[in-house]
Amino acid sequence: MKTYQIAVIPGDGIGPEVLAEGIKVLERAAERSGAFRFRFTYFPWGCEYYLEHGRMMDADGMERLAGFDAIYLGAVGAPGVPDHISLWDLLLTIRKGFDQYVNLRPVKLLRGAPCPLKDVRREDIDMTFVRENSEGEYAGSGSWLYKGKPNEVVIQDGVFSRAGCERIMRYAYELARKEKKTLTSISKGNALNYSMVFWDQMFREVGREYPDVETRSYLVDAASMFMVKDPGRFQIVVTSNLFGDILTDLGAAIAGGLGLAAGANLNPERKYPSMFEPIHGSAPDIAGKSVADPLASIWAASQMLDFFGHEDWGRRVLDAVEAVLEDGSCLTPDLGGIASTGQVGDRVVSLL
Ligand code: NAD
Ligand code: IPM
Ligand code: MN
Repeated sequence: MKTYQIAVIPGDGIGPEVLAEGIKVLERAAERSGAFRFRFTYFPWGCEYYLEHGRMMDADGMERLAGFDAIYLGAVGAPGVPDHISLWDLLLTIRKGFDQYVNLRPVKLLRGAPCPLKDVRREDIDMTFVRENSEGEYAGSGSWLYKGKPNEVVIQDGVFSRAGCERIMRYAYELARKEKKTLTSISKGNALNYSMVFWDQMFREVGREYPDVETRSYLVDAASMFMVKDPGRFQIVVTSNLFGDILTDLGAAIAGGLGLAAGANLNPERKYPSMFEPIHGSAPDIAGKSVADPLASIWAASQMLDFFGHEDWGRRVLDAVEAVLEDGSCLTPDLGGIASTGQVGDRVVSLL
């Protein structure tokens, strides 16, 4: 029987609370399948660890993680530590260090999930965002000159490489071809006269190899308007790191809220472990109260099962999430219920 070695990084705030429920679900899926099992190894990294040890993860952390089949992460960030330190020294270190260049984020309205838009049917919100996850606006390149002086200058570079654009677009075209869906590129070539002009050019160039895939191209400002006014336009979407970050929170808002939105950070070549996480943050405002919605982290667990080739179990987990939403009697407060984080997790487990 295959045993998957999973590195678990619960992290900060509600991270540990929601991850515990995803782990219950994975254990249950394994037990029911009889074909695979999980071995979970916990890492105590995060902001508390930083305040004690002066670092977000151990110095040899990346070497230790490299041997795992996947990483399951809760959330990172706490009020006592500057966000750019906590995120760059843990979450972004892993995404970049393991070349998880695809950030796959479903924006799908499940039955029973609340939608703030009028006259929208379930099939109108059924998108998959393919967010570039290794470079672009998140390249981390720039400088800070003459700190505190009147002539202070701050530069944050966007880095768009041919190889980086090509591989994310190829991934998106392949996905659109496989799923027989349209592919939409979202960019901003009118104002970002180098990076996004190049992005658009690469989208057309790679597209020549996929004449069977119907494409669209939108400017990001118009795209955000259409996501609200006419979400049915979007199926597979490919976009840059920052635009993908922002648009998928918007996507979460139209598809049930942040408590439901999941994401997979993939290294498609499987040279390094991939990482699965809810897209929400550590939510310090509700941490420790057992009210956090665990469905996003459970959906991320379903993405992990898909990635391991157990799509049948990934599907069953997502179906169970949908059944919990449809039933409506066991939901956390963000979805209008009064259930605790643990009760929602238990309900998903019992449906499996
Ligand atoms: P957030 O996602 O933590 O919270 C935004 C709002 O959504 C809050 O009101 C929160 O209570 C609510 N919310 C989020 N997840 C929820 C859930 N599962 N159930 C119910 N409600 C939920 O975003 P923020 O407040 O902007 O950031 C807080 C911290 O998290 C910051 O330090 C930020 O840098 C960090 N962050 C981390 C990640 C990550 O680790 N992947 C992602 C985003 C933000
Ligand atoms: C996300 C988060 C991260 C991002 C932050 C915490 C660095 O917002 O996963 O969406 O911007 O990628
Ligand atoms: Mn985000």
